[in-house]
Amino acid sequence: LVFLFGTMCMTMVRYAQTAAALAPEPRMKKFQVYRWDPDKPGDKPRMQTYEVDLNNCGPMVLDALIKIKNEIDPTLTFRRSCREGICGSCAMNINGNNTLACLNKISTNTSKPTKIYPLPHMYVVKDLVPDMSNFYAQYKSIEPYLKKKDETQEGKKPYFQSVEDRQKLDGLYECILCACCSTSCPSYWWNGDKYLGPAVLMQAYRWMIDSRDEFTEERLSKLQDPFSVYRCHTIMNCTKTCPKGLNPGKAIAEIKKMMATYKEKKAAAS
Ligand SMILES: *[C@@H]1O[C@H](CO)[C@@H](O)[C@H](O)[C@H]1NC(C)=O
Ligand SMILES: *[C@@H]1O[C@H](CO)[C@@H](O)[C@H](O)[C@H]1NC(C)=O
Ligand SMILES: *[C@@H]1O[C@H](CO)[C@@H](O)[C@H](O)[C@H]1NC(C)=O
Ligand code: SF4
Ligand code: SF4
Ligand code: FES
Repeated sequence: LVFLFGTMCMTMVRYAQTAAALAPEPRMKKFQVYRWDPDKPGDKPRMQTYEVDLNNCGPMVLDALIKIKNEIDPTLTFRRSCREGICGSCAMNINGNNTLACLNKISTNTSKPTKIYPLPHMYVVKDLVPDMSNFYAQYKSIEPYLKKKDETQEGKKPYFQSVEDRQKLDGLYECILCACCSTSCPSYWWNGDKYLGPAVLMQAYRWMIDSRDEFTEERLSKLQDPFSVYRCHTIMNCTKTCPKGLNPGKAIAEIKKMMATYKEKKAAAS
């Protein structure tokens, strides 16, 4: 028995030695994260640096944030849910680019810290959590649902759509309303109270061109003011930053075209 025990000990020692020799060098990466709690009297915005060993961390920036929250600092606050680019809640500014933390790979260059801020020019609720109230109110204002002149048939028969008409919605319906585009748009930064911004305008367009919707003209006429649409100066930050590869800049250009046609039609009729 003593002999057996001795052999086991030797085996364990050897195993430990091998494991130590095989353990990879830690790859410590710095994350500089914006911290601010506006509800805490006297608290000021600051950057806080956390170090994470990339050998024990998933590949995405969201993995690092979750690791920091679980193992280093439970007070760090951010939104996330699906961790696969579907819910849109983890939108933030990573190294100067608005994107989804769950789809953004951590740069493996350990001599370069990753800088993380909330979406730019939004009110901050806490740390990386922006206040989305205005954005959602704007989305509500465009009535993002099917509208019929005669609603007595609602629920009684399906509203058919041809394959071709359905295809017109491709590249529009995939939007997850993450607001990366709107918060990269300088016009939205300065006039976010009156200018609807690329995300909401693309959804307005999505309902304007839906073959089943009967309120296209009303939808267009509602946007006929100097701010709702015309603050877009085609800078195209929005399209560049969209993490779903969509093109809200183009959708806005299409709305402008539809508006011009609609105005001509109205002028010809009167
Ligand atoms: C890593 O980042 C440092 C600091 O910005 C830079 O000087 C270096 O060239 C980068 N290395 C690689 C391999 O990109
Ligand atoms: C958007 O464009 C402006 C001006 O062209 C630029 O200064 C800014 O950094 C861009 N912002 C984002 C978040 O891409
Ligand atoms: C910013 O992120 C988007 C995806 O969210 C990506 O397509 C784009 O290349 C990034 N831009 C830069 C400058 O890293
Ligand atoms: S194209 Fe229009 S909506 Fe997009 S960033 Fe430029 S101004 Fe903003
Ligand atoms: S268009 Fe792209 S960036 Fe803008 S809200 Fe939709 S998914 Fe996000
Ligand atoms: S967690 Fe849902 S999009 Fe990133």
